[in-house]
Amino acid sequence: LLETNLRPKVLEEYIGQSKVKEKMRIFIEAAKARGEALDHVLLYGPPGLGKTTLSYIIANEMNVNIRITSGPAIERPGDLAALLTNMSEGDVLFIDEIHRLNASVEEVLYPAMEDYALDIIIGKGPSARSLRIDLPKFTLVGATTRAGMLTSPLRDRFGVINRLELYTDEELKIIVTRSAGILGISIDDGGALEIARRSRGTPRIANRLLRRIRDYAEVRAEGKITQEVADAGLKMLEVDKMGLDNVDRNMLRVMIEMFGGGPVGLDTIAAATGEESNTIEDVYEPYLMQLGYIMRTPRGRMVTQAAYDHLGIKKTDKKESNT
Ligand code: ADE
Repeated sequence: LLETNLRPKVLEEYIGQSKVKEKMRIFIEAAKARGEALDHVLLYGPPGLGKTTLSYIIANEMNVNIRITSGPAIERPGDLAALLTNMSEGDVLFIDEIHRLNASVEEVLYPAMEDYALDIIIGKGPSARSLRIDLPKFTLVGATTRAGMLTSPLRDRFGVINRLELYTDEELKIIVTRSAGILGISIDDGGALEIARRSRGTPRIANRLLRRIRDYAEVRAEGKITQEVADAGLKMLEVDKMGLDNVDRNMLRVMIEMFGGGPVGLDTIAAATGEESNTIEDVYEPYLMQLGYIMRTPRGRMVTQAAYDHLGIKKTDKKESNT
């Protein structure tokens, strides 16, 4: 709920993702000029980068209403039918975690997306009939962490496919400064940059750290977030200089200490750390790869020299086995 206040309402206020913004600006303007619904949009990328925020902005810029739901929340075809038949012309239906739709629901979605129609089967056996219900022309905005998790018939029905990227430190610094302004938090450039640098390229994390460092600053530093205060607060939170938390560091250590730095398979890392494979792939790996701390190879994940250096662990040559 608090996050809603921080959400930008228009594209102009949305920081970063410049390629996505530029494309969406054009597609929105063109659809509006033709008086049509915007084509269906798929947003994918790691969690916390603003997929939900962007879908609110799309609806706002199109001057239409938005309905928010998620893949797991739509259990049966009837749940989807109820949503779709309650929308108005041009409205946005946002489905988060769209890769988690079950197959029977997905099949109802295909004609809905393609022909704005629902095919309903009435009755059973020989007397069963199919009934087609026309739907308002709507825009589906789907969000997922990885486009590869969608079935191809579903992916193929999106006219616009946008990948969201991790944010740069400069972009996150602007976001932190903007959020601090809205929340009435006193912060200087050094403080904002320190939080930005340690937020794993992710606005949601930056905003969360900002709130926690505010708490720290209020109790320990008269409420003002400077670089020194941010640094001390982040140390307390066990977020290191590169933004890694305990889970990141534990994952790297396990890969080094149990598997000689790899290559080691994702499922093996998951079993050894107690994290879900999907969580590792969606949440931890993108940032560790962006930092160049791990690499993907056909034989599994490998820890790089940079990660050894960061952890202060000396790389020992792997002994060749002759057996
Ligand atoms: N808050 C979260 N994501 C944002 C973004 N991309 N721009 C501005 N504020 C944000």
